[in-house]
Amino acid sequence: MTATPRIAVIGSANVDLTTLSDAFPRAGETLFGKGFNLGFGGKGANQAVAARLCGADVLMVARVGEDLFGEATLKNFASFGIDTRHVQVVPGTSTGVAPIFVEPNGQNRIIVVKGANEHLRPADVDAAAPLLRTVDAIILQFEIPLETVYHTVRFARANGIRCIVNPAPALPMEVSQLRAADYFIPNETEAELITGHAVRTLEEARAGAAALVQKGFRKVVLTLGDRGSLVADASGSSEVAPFRVTAVDTTGAGDAFIGSLAVFLAEGLAELQAAARANLYAALSTTRVGTQKSFITRAEFAAAWARAAADRVD
Ligand code: RIB
Repeated sequence: MTATPRIAVIGSANVDLTTLSDAFPRAGETLFGKGFNLGFGGKGANQAVAARLCGADVLMVARVGEDLFGEATLKNFASFGIDTRHVQVVPGTSTGVAPIFVEPNGQNRIIVVKGANEHLRPADVDAAAPLLRTVDAIILQFEIPLETVYHTVRFARANGIRCIVNPAPALPMEVSQLRAADYFIPNETEAELITGHAVRTLEEARAGAAALVQKGFRKVVLTLGDRGSLVADASGSSEVAPFRVTAVDTTGAGDAFIGSLAVFLAEGLAELQAAARANLYAALSTTRVGTQKSFITRAEFAAAWARAAADRVD
């Protein structure tokens, strides 16, 4: 463990256009929404910001478009103190965007237009290799070309760097290219796609995690929304209890979980302890609208963790 964890995220950066609405239009229909929020998002960028807010030094490897959103995204990373030496503008492309629709219960529907994220190639990872070799963990998701994800998993393995793969959003993938990852962290939908079995109940979640371990993933952390998470490996699985909150927007909660988990693990916490803290960090992000805007600082988290621990004892 290093004093300050060093985390690299190789992934997407989007601008999120979030609409809050009680209902969603049918074809040909126009409805009035209740609210709108413009913010920075993208699964990769969200995980980078969560890791940074939790106290890590963060290197981002990403591509943005030649537009106002691209410039703003670079400034946003810089405002958090995230290393952007490998975030570059792709001429003639648009920055990734995500129109997001949030229901009154906080659930979301997202359409991602990948734009410049599609241009993050294996050679771009190689260009960042000298810096990547200095980090404690590399985090990957599926909003960039899968070829780049597979290449980075091999790179991390060859260099003995902890590698965390978040297979989001759910896409067909080559499992054999991902088995070398140290942690594989899907949600229920993603686990269903890979295993072919529904993951709705806790029992199905246990079976799903076991099926993923059976497929050769070394450590699986299944995120279960407001039911917490489940940590599994060849020796079995353990549930990690959720924290009860009133959710207004669940967008980015999975990213909050992964970015914070990477930091807690890099700090040397045991997996179940790290996952418990990541559960709380993610739960708290659902109590505010937006993605990165809903993530709290390490000091705020420390206070919330102390309160949560006291509540559990009482
Ligand atoms: O996980 C939430 C993220 O998914 C949003 O920020 C959106 O940009 C999409 O990438």
